[in-house]
Formats: sequence, C-alpha cells, structure tokens
Amino acid sequence: MGKNNHRKPVSRRSALGLIGAGAGVIAAGTALPTKFAIGAQAKIKVGTLLPYSGTYTWLGESITNSLELAFANAGGKLGGREIDLIKVDSEAKPPKAAELTNKLINQEKVDIIVGPVHSGVAMAMAKIAREEGTLTVIPNAGADQVTGPLCSPNIFRTSFSNWQPGHPMGKVLAEEGKKKVVLCYWGYGAGKQSAQGFKDGFMGGGGEIVKEIAVPFPKVEFQAALTEIASLKPEAVYVFFAGGGAVKFVKDWAAAGLKDKIELVGPGFLTEGVTKAQGAAAEGIRTTLHYADTLDNPANRAYRAAYKKAYGKEADVYGVQGFDAGQLIQAGVGAVRGDVAAMGDMVKAMEGAVIDSPRGQWVLSSAHNPVQNFYLRRVKNGVNEVVRLAEENLADPATGCRA
Ligand code: PHB
Repeated sequence: MGKNNHRKPVSRRSALGLIGAGAGVIAAGTALPTKFAIGAQAKIKVGTLLPYSGTYTWLGESITNSLELAFANAGGKLGGREIDLIKVDSEAKPPKAAELTNKLINQEKVDIIVGPVHSGVAMAMAKIAREEGTLTVIPNAGADQVTGPLCSPNIFRTSFSNWQPGHPMGKVLAEEGKKKVVLCYWGYGAGKQSAQGFKDGFMGGGGEIVKEIAVPFPKVEFQAALTEIASLKPEAVYVFFAGGGAVKFVKDWAAAGLKDKIELVGPGFLTEGVTKAQGAAAEGIRTTLHYADTLDNPANRAYRAAYKKAYGKEADVYGVQGFDAGQLIQAGVGAVRGDVAAMGDMVKAMEGAVIDSPRGQWVLSSAHNPVQNFYLRRVKNGVNEVVRLAEENLADPATGCRA
C-alpha cells in the first residue's frame, strides 16, 4: 500500500489555490529537501470507480486493463513515482456514487480518480470532485453536463460527450434521405442525450422522429418495445444500449425477425466489445463512433496487439478510452515530476497534451472533452470496420461551460 504519511496533508482547495507553486518548489529545491522531495518517495494513488459487476462489467474491465497497459508502457511509474491502483466497484449504480467517491477521496486519499462508465454515477462524482478539487479523468461516462455546466479545471474526459456519437449517425441517415425514425434507449441521461445528439444531426433534413421508447436502466426486457416498433414500421431505429444490454437487444431484434425489415443503427456502443456474444445477429449493423477496430494507424496496431497479448481478447473503444486516460495522466503527472500538489501546472500540461491515441491523435476542447473524428462503421465477421469518416474534428457544444 502506498502511504502518504511522510507528507503533511495539503488540502485540495489550497493546492488549487497555489497554482504554479509546486513547480517553483522543484526549481528551488536544491539545498534543503523540500516537502515534495520527501513525498516523492511515496506511491502515487490512483483510484478507479468503475463497474466490475452488472451489465457494464465488460466496460469497466476493458478500461482497467488498458489503464494498466498504459501505466506499464510508462515503466510502471508516473513522474518517477510508483503507482498504487485502488479499484472500487461502482456497480453502475448512481445512488452509491457519492459514498464511493467520498471513500476514494477521504479514506483512501487518492491523488487521482479514474471513472466512471455510467452517466448517473458521473453526475454525483463530478459534483464532489469539483468541490474537493481532486484530479479526475473520466474514461467513458458521457454525461453532457460534466463538460458543460459542471465543467471544472480538475475534471477531464478521454471518451466523448453523449451528444457526440449520436450527431454523426443522425447526419448520415439525413443525408441518405431517411424520413421516419424511431428512437429506443435506456431512459437515463446517456440514452436521452445520445438521442438528442441524433436528433440534432437528423432534423432539418425533413425527417421525422415517429416515436421515442425509453426502457428503464438496466432492464433488458425488450419485447414490448420490439412489438411497438414492428407495428410502427419506421425506416430505421436508433438505439442506445451497451454491454450486456446491447448483446440482448441485438439478439432479440434478430429473433423478432426485424433484422431484414428495418435498419437498426446506434452509437457504436451497440456493437463494441460484444460482437462475439451477439454472433450473426450483429452482422451488417452500422453505427457511428470515435473508434473502429480497423483504424489503420501505428498506435492502433501497437495497442491492439499489446492488449491481445496481455489479456487474450480483442480490444474495444472502452479500452482505448482507458488507455488514453493513462496517457493523459502521464502527461500531467510527468510535467510536474510527480508533484501532484502542483495542480495548476499539471492541469496546464494536460490541457496542452496531444494524445497519440489508437483512435488517431486528438486534443481537448477548452471544456476538457476530446475534439475527435467520428467514423461510420459496419460489422463484418464480428469486426467493427470503418466505412468512412462521418464527421471530422467534432467538438461537443459544451453549452454552459464557463471554464
Ligand atoms: C454512459 O452512461 O454515459 C454510458 C454508458 C455506456 C456507454 C456509453 C455511455 O457505452
């Protein structure tokens, strides 16, 4: 266990107030050992708040595996300090989020939080992280608010806003002249905001949303929705489901005989990490996402090979986001040579980082959300293949962020 007991505790608030002071300490710290020079012997504590049980388990594991891969690539150290990784199961349950976040910050005394996957968990977590000033890197949860009205200097996201992957899918269907679309999603923040992104891309081309069907998270009883969709006979259905729910929906869709009648589309989560379990039912499904298995760049080839070697399975977008969380943390902690109390300098280094990601290079917006390409993909032999670029350098509108 890493111990910070050599070090006089510095409150996060005062750390934030002393922007730049840490760097000064390093520069001046030649004669006498400074507080940080002693603290540098301690391990740096990184706490994950991710789902290791429930419908999003695959996502949490993929992120954690890849975060560990990124840390291993950095020699197992951040800014010269060894890493103590503390894993907490969020269970993807928003009511538990505040307590678990407080536990990581106040009991475990982590330096950095990596999480969560679920937007409801993110809402509770971000409010606390903002108050406490704890450096937080979100490797999945897309809650628009976190890089909108709740944006904060100490909160970063390496994934997407929920709006982002929906927008290009709406644009693609509008360009193809589709007119009648049904939306079906888990009825919480992520599903609703994903649907809004789709609508923003789709509307204006004369198209119509015939119906919106919400299924309570994390329920996977889809029969009533499928019966309704079959009777509405739209040209396409845009859905938001992921993990275990995506496996079940895609299989139920095929079993209900809808696969050859109505086009099923969604943000890429519908077919990420799950095509093996979905089998033939996934073949041909088109989605839009900031990643595809077949993206042809050196970082993607190296990452996928390393992931397969380490874990014996194929990588996916969740892993890419976790890997990039590790890279972004490395950029920040490396710049302050491990002195995480130098929050201002660390944040500045992270804001300026160009991440050499398996998805292609990306940078952060001023709201701390990736500005990135979105691809139209299609499943072929269980692989999410790139069809074409759907939207280039797409930034979230970040409405309400005053950072
Ligand atoms: C979310 O809750 O923000 C979320 C969960 C799973 C995904 C994408 C977004 O695949």
